[in-house]
Amino acid sequence: MWDRSNWNAADRCGVSYTGLDYCQNQINQFQNKLRSLNREARLVFGDARSFDLHESFDLVFIGFSSLSEVVDNRDKIKVLQRIRSHLKPSGRFTFSLHNPVVRNLRLNQEHVFDIHDGSRTLEFYGRFQPPSSAGIVSGTQRYVIKDREGHTLEDRELDLTFHLIPKDEIKTLLATTGFRVEELWGDYDRSKFIESNPYMIYRCSIDTGSEVD
Ligand SMILES: C[S@@+](CC[C@H](N)C(=O)[O-])C[C@H]1O[C@@H](n2cnc3c(N)ncnc32)[C@H](O)[C@@H]1O
Repeated sequence: MWDRSNWNAADRCGVSYTGLDYCQNQINQFQNKLRSLNREARLVFGDARSFDLHESFDLVFIGFSSLSEVVDNRDKIKVLQRIRSHLKPSGRFTFSLHNPVVRNLRLNQEHVFDIHDGSRTLEFYGRFQPPSSAGIVSGTQRYVIKDREGHTLEDRELDLTFHLIPKDEIKTLLATTGFRVEELWGDYDRSKFIESNPYMIYRCSIDTGSEVD
């Protein structure tokens, strides 16, 4: 749910997939990609704080640190409550976040990537103000696509605000909304989290001892 990256995994495993986003443009782009691959998925326009799909799922996944775009903790609680009520009793909720300590040191970045068709490059620039005392960061991400001769083909800038969520706050938010943390990984190789890892990847189940909802 709410993410494109996990669609690939769902597609490979042959399981059904529902994606949710409150940006119609994101949905349209994904829809176009699916069409070009001759694939289908259910994509829903909706707000993660208030959605109701009248269905329960085996797995809910939020990748790309997208939960940190829900800046206010009261809104995060709404998102987590909605997710909990869409999970089957044996379901799992998995989400990835940047480790705030590491991300904070790498807010302003520049990278150049080769685009896989081999004829273009992508330049990426992150420009952010230092975090507020609550860990809220605002700034821009700029993406420049160039051809082999260095001519600019596309130049886009995106305003972005996100919350560098401290680990203790996540723990409280999950406990408040009736989740039990089963695993905390620090990277996609499933190594156990240590403070120097770039990510915090959680796998949670419903805490059956909790009376939430
Ligand atoms: C890091 S981007 C991930 C983009 C895209 N979903 C993908 O998988 O490539 C975060 C996404 O979260 C969406 N988002 C942020 N807050 C949301 C909310 N309250 N409800 C639904 N979508 C939200 C944004 O519109 C944005 O598309």
